[in-house]
Amino acid sequence: MIVSTDALFRPAYGKYAIGAYNINNMEQALGLFLGHINAQAPFIIQLSKGSRKYAGIPMIEAIIRAAEQLYPEAIYAVHLDHGDEATCYACIDSGFYSSVMIDASHASFEENVAITRRVVERAHAKGLSVEAELGMLGGVEEDITVDEKHAMLTNPNEAKAFVEQSGCDSLAVAIGTSHGAYKFKGQQSLHFERIEAIQQQLPGVPLVMHGSSSVPQDEVLRINAAGGTLDPSARGVDENEFKRAAELGVTKVNIDTDGRLVWTRVHREYFRDYPEDFDFRKPGALFVEEYARFIVNKSEKLGSQGKLPEVRAALG
Ligand code: G3H
Ligand code: 13P
Ligand code: ZN
Repeated sequence: MIVSTDALFRPAYGKYAIGAYNINNMEQALGLFLGHINAQAPFIIQLSKGSRKYAGIPMIEAIIRAAEQLYPEAIYAVHLDHGDEATCYACIDSGFYSSVMIDASHASFEENVAITRRVVERAHAKGLSVEAELGMLGGVEEDITVDEKHAMLTNPNEAKAFVEQSGCDSLAVAIGTSHGAYKFKGQQSLHFERIEAIQQQLPGVPLVMHGSSSVPQDEVLRINAAGGTLDPSARGVDENEFKRAAELGVTKVNIDTDGRLVWTRVHREYFRDYPEDFDFRKPGALFVEEYARFIVNKSEKLGSQGKLPEVRAALG
């Protein structure tokens, strides 16, 4: 059942985080639903502009609806990831989405407020909620000075003013993470002191952590052993830090890269081990199983595992 993003955030806030996963195809949808049923966890499906273009809008929506027929117990929200203004309006008007993200973080503070405000008005009129972004998501590497690192992170006072002025429902914050497989070199940790300071300014407002993949070393090594050439020094977010972040208001945790790594590892290993094979359903089915296992593990780390009955009961 597709529910509002708020229905998932309310019981989770301050206790656990909801995993928000980007999907692009049928196999990911099957693994995503199966994994969350096995974990008994609520979840958020994220569609990017790229995924809407890759699968085609009617196709990706039909895949999600069909997965729901296979797993009717699932409770989830559908969210536009990193939308521009026009895509936000298209999703708001489509009737399929629970929430949209307007990403105007590249613009000035004032411009970001103005764009977000416009999207909020259109979204709220149709009962959708809006995630906005403030700050610069970037790789925080060891050779960056402490001052530089802190300048890249979301300023707590600005965050408060931004939410008040824009009316957004949740806020994506820069707290040390970045997108993709190459987030950190060397020591990796979220900036908890910054998350705490933001939460103090915005009590009760769900914070969103983008760039939350953990880029497991063994996954990278297996991909490379099967012909890949990923940088083995790649590091991501320590997933053991999810729960502490959740207690400080991080309620949505965005994960895409790690799922791509599972796909790449399964397919590279399969075709390395069975070079004579060309039935793509075999690695496809293996991927669904492995992706579902990956989801169960993430749900445990996020603290969302086992929360499905409680979310269902709250829906009435
Ligand atoms: O943050 C972006 C997500 O990883 C989606 O990636 O735009 O390549 O679909 P994409
Ligand atoms: P990763 O690249 O760390 O998976 O982040 C995904 C994301 O933030 C999607 O919005
Ligand atoms: Zn993102």
